[in-house]
Amino acid sequence: MAGEVKIGLVGCGSVSQRGLLPHLVMDDLAGRCRLTAVCDNAPGRAEATAERFGVPQAFADYDRFLAEADVEAVTLATPIGLHFEQAMAAVGVGKHVHLNKAMTVTVHEADLLIEAAGAKGVKLVASPGQMLRPMLQAVRERLEAGAIGRHYFAINGMSFPGHENEGFRQEGDVLTAVDPEWYYKQPGGGPMLDMGVYCLHTLTGILGPAEAVVGVSGIGLPERTFMGKTVQVEADDMTILTMDFGERGFAVVYAGFTAGSDAGRLRLHGSEGTIELADGNVVVGGQNAAEFPPTCAERLPDLVEGAHREVPEAHVYADIIHLVDCVRGDGEPVVSAEHARHVIEIMERGYIAASTGGRQELTTTF
Ligand SMILES: NC(=O)c1ccc[n+]([C@@H]2O[C@H](COP(=O)([O-])OP(=O)(O)OC[C@H]3O[C@@H](n4cnc5c(N)ncnc54)[C@H](O)[C@@H]3O)[C@@H](O)[C@H]2O)c1
Repeated sequence: MAGEVKIGLVGCGSVSQRGLLPHLVMDDLAGRCRLTAVCDNAPGRAEATAERFGVPQAFADYDRFLAEADVEAVTLATPIGLHFEQAMAAVGVGKHVHLNKAMTVTVHEADLLIEAAGAKGVKLVASPGQMLRPMLQAVRERLEAGAIGRHYFAINGMSFPGHENEGFRQEGDVLTAVDPEWYYKQPGGGPMLDMGVYCLHTLTGILGPAEAVVGVSGIGLPERTFMGKTVQVEADDMTILTMDFGERGFAVVYAGFTAGSDAGRLRLHGSEGTIELADGNVVVGGQNAAEFPPTCAERLPDLVEGAHREVPEAHVYADIIHLVDCVRGDGEPVVSAEHARHVIEIMERGYIAASTGGRQELTTTF
């Protein structure tokens, strides 16, 4: 089909209000994609969202949304622990699905979801689509062209003070007082599923599938507060995983809800030099640096076009529109559920490795 894809958004919280909804109602999407319904189970939030963004249908109940909304595709922006159940239900009634990260919590869930989507003939796109980013493609190209010789190890990590500190969440109306407690609960909480997942997609996107994982993980602050409410932290809020990529060396990923923000520094070390992201450019250091000048000279294309560049969460919008284009052109997503499943296995086995102290072999690939 090459027509307009009608899409429904589920979960009208932080990422949706700040980024996804503003992207999905922009005029340039006419003829390609149309946001026709929203759903949120917090009383009044779906209706208030529909009114704010001019969306035709609003639902407080997910089952009713699936039964009655005029949509062919669904984007899930709900807490991670709900993704599996909600995606399975959507696939079950023949909807194409985009899932925010992390796709699911376990590999078993990922297996079932991939199988169900295959059986129904619907498409899955699982964020984060890190390898859609021209800059990360440039890193991979340089590595493959031999810029740093034999790859030894890479490091990438993210930290952020925690979602109770997001400027968006505050006392006020139903569109802003969105409780982030689930980020500290199981299943689905913790910074590895929230942020480390970006770094794992990046590293496996550049180096390929990992073979094994070891790790350490724990809770730094047992309690957090949000709007005067005490939240007991049940999901680890600091985790470091080390992957063995066999012939392609090692990589470390860290993720924590810590003071200060670290938006994912990436550095690769090899026998002949380094590749790192510095000030938005890909910089090769070492003996081959002259052959591989920084990317600023080459003007990398942007991930998204036009006014979308100015709206937050453009990378998630890029993944949603990737699903739309795959549905319209009947293509297979590159931001695949199989890649997401491999990353989920690293995280799931990483937690087991951290609690047992043993190396965990990985079995999935993409
Ligand atoms: N917050 C961010 O900065 C950010 C950025 C990119 C991606 N994401 C991803 O987006 C997703 C949502 O994150 P968020 O921070 O926006 O969460 P949030 O807690 O701010 O919002 C989640 C929304 O889902 C709704 N919800 C909960 N249960 C529901 C149900 N059963 N049916 C319908 N709605 C339900 C809640 O009422 C809430 O409005 C997660 O997968 C997260 O990893 C978040």
